Amino acid sequence: MITQQRKLDSGFDAHSTADDVLAGVDLTGTTALVTGGYSGLGLAATHALVRAGAHVLVPARRPEAAEAALHGTPGTEVHALDLADQDSVHGFSDGFLRTGRSLDILINGAGVMACLQTRVGPGWEAHFAVNHLGHFALTHRLRPAFAPGARVVAVASSGHFLSDIRWDDLHFRTGYDRWLAYAQSKTANALFALHLDRLGADHGLHAFAVHPGSILTPLQRHIPRAEWLAQGWVTPDGTPADGFKTPEQGAATAVWAATSPLLDGHGGAYCQDCDIAEPATTDDMLTGGVKPWAVDPAAAARLWDLSCELTGLDAF
Ligand SMILES: NC(=O)c1ccc[n+]([C@@H]2O[C@H](COP(=O)([O-])OP(=O)(O)OC[C@H]3O[C@@H](n4cnc5c(N)ncnc54)[C@H](OP(=O)(O)O)[C@@H]3O)[C@@H](O)[C@H]2O)c1
Repeated sequence: MITQQRKLDSGFDAHSTADDVLAGVDLTGTTALVTGGYSGLGLAATHALVRAGAHVLVPARRPEAAEAALHGTPGTEVHALDLADQDSVHGFSDGFLRTGRSLDILINGAGVMACLQTRVGPGWEAHFAVNHLGHFALTHRLRPAFAPGARVVAVASSGHFLSDIRWDDLHFRTGYDRWLAYAQSKTANALFALHLDRLGADHGLHAFAVHPGSILTPLQRHIPRAEWLAQGWVTPDGTPADGFKTPEQGAATAVWAATSPLLDGHGGAYCQDCDIAEPATTDDMLTGGVKPWAVDPAAAARLWDLSCELTGLDAF
């Protein structure tokens, strides 16, 4: 079944925080894994999940920074994981599987944005490799651990507006553009959730993609301050522009997608502002919505096969 991109009137909105959507939700006894759970939206999601009773694993490419950010928050544990390195993904996943624990929630929140051209692994473009292929392999390898009813949330972005998958030049062998590289990886995140849900549904595994909103976090570290102003992200005095969210609001849609019973029967949906997103009617990324190429089931299946081929993983 393909989910219609139609709002559910969840009762939450762009102003809701992760704590708001988890109010009254008891996650005691559940295990969550949040990539990037030590910075920006991921850190806010981790705190909210812990407050709701979940135990949260935070894999980090900089474990010391993660330990410092979490200040030993009870209910969290930090592990080493570099999503740019498929061997690291393999090692982390095997280590988790060996513990025999099951996983109820996986939030694939780590990401890089608008980096200078960088190649990782066998020459892969870094946004595609970290934001998509790293999470693809992580989720795939963790499959035996998913508990019945588990949910995977792919943190995508309205950045997907700028690019479909570049089927004939995935790795930007020509014409590198840092925004198009980010955009392609975010379209890939949305398509990943769509196809994962299709493959996982028979096993009780569901997946969702979310656009968290626009939030000033370390994600923008590769972009000169002057460009922040030019892009309209900040006012001249440096405060976030109207329409920007706090990290706690930015984390809300991901934790809502990970837990809301309202989404039962809507697997694969692309969400924003704690609801299913409507099809985009403009190119305004702040308004958001979803473009057709990010919810195309044929493209999602094609990307899945291509990702298996690139990572050497079998069909799910
Ligand atoms: N902020 C926004 O306005 C916005 C809008 C739309 C979508 N998003 C999406 O939201 C997600 C979270 O963004 P954020 O704003 O919270 O950014 P952030 O604060 O920079 O957090 C990103 C996290 O990803 C981690 N990471 C980066 N490369 C990694 C790698 N190779 N292996 C493991 N972890 C890695 C970072 O670790 P290090 O600190 O060690 O580098 C960091 O913990 C991203 O997927 C982003 O695309 C954000």
